[in-house]
Amino acid sequence: MDSIKITFKVDGLEATVEGDKNKTLLDTALENDIDAPYSCKGGACATCIGRLKSGTVELEQNYILTDGEIEDGLIITCQAYPTSSELFLDIDDN
Ligand code: FES
Repeated sequence: MDSIKITFKVDGLEATVEGDKNKTLLDTALENDIDAPYSCKGGACATCIGRLKSGTVELEQNYILTDGEIEDGLIITCQAYPTSSELFLDIDDN
């Protein structure tokens, strides 16, 4: 996996940026001036929830989401590292 393309949808706006498998989706969003919501950055508050419409991630910590919610595509961006070369994350759909 060389380059990773991540599309974020926030507040009705879509932006596609280059991702990094060693960075969380939240950090990638913030570094690209995407207005992604967050609070604790520790996997505990649920402020950063979004829904993966395509692609896969690995969640480092998760104190919030049930297995069923994860199967439905919900992720917490502060703990999510990309594991596919393309992702579409809808932060408006949570
Ligand atoms: S910012 Fe609190 S769970 Fe992600």
